[in-house]
Amino acid sequence: MENNQNNRTLAVDIGGSGVKVMVLDAIGNPITERARQETPKPAKPQPIINAIVSLAATQGEFHRVSVGFPGVVHNGVTQTAVNLDSDWIGFDLATALSKNLQRPVRVANDADIQGLGAIAGKGVELVVTLGTGFGSALFVDGKLVPNLEMGHHRFRKGESYEEQLGRAALEKVGEKKWNRRLEKAMASLQSLFNYNYLYIGGGEAKKVNLDLPQNVKIIPNVTGLLGGIALWRD
Ligand code: BGC
Repeated sequence: MENNQNNRTLAVDIGGSGVKVMVLDAIGNPITERARQETPKPAKPQPIINAIVSLAATQGEFHRVSVGFPGVVHNGVTQTAVNLDSDWIGFDLATALSKNLQRPVRVANDADIQGLGAIAGKGVELVVTLGTGFGSALFVDGKLVPNLEMGHHRFRKGESYEEQLGRAALEKVGEKKWNRRLEKAMASLQSLFNYNYLYIGGGEAKKVNLDLPQNVKIIPNVTGLLGGIALWRD
């Protein structure tokens, strides 16, 4: 594809603690510095849209928008938002943001976008994100298996992956214990999915302090923005 100015994409990553944006060129290379604002509290739709609009104003020209959202998304409509606010359930984010920015908008789950930015496209590839929540995405030969929500699945001691490994747990039990839990989670996921590759992303991935097997890679959090280009590859 020609690197045409008309193909600039504003990539947005809505997180439980920060809203981040950056502009990508036609082939997905960043052309602006990432900008970030704290996620408004309460994290209801309109204040978050306002944050995106004000961040977008710092990014220069763009022609289309990709959004990573921390919950299940169907056709631009957000279905769950455990770490934001229940007002997101059934909210048409793609349409609302498109009205505010006057640009076409596509929305996908945040972990799916991390994955789209990271995978090799071969075999079984699992992506988990460690941030406010616990995100997950599964790809088979580059094709996404939709709506995998491992974060809310039972992991151990009567708690979910997110309850054991989300940011609140990390702050409560400290890095050492959290890393031991992560090691157990990797063993459990490896035996369940028999993945060829596991990618670990999200804002807290930098705290991973384990000897990782060769098929496990830590990916930078900016992947959650870079993967946004894939939503326009059709
Ligand atoms: C949500 C997922 C999301 C993850 C990371 C979880 O609580 O249910 O959809 O990917 O947090 O933001």
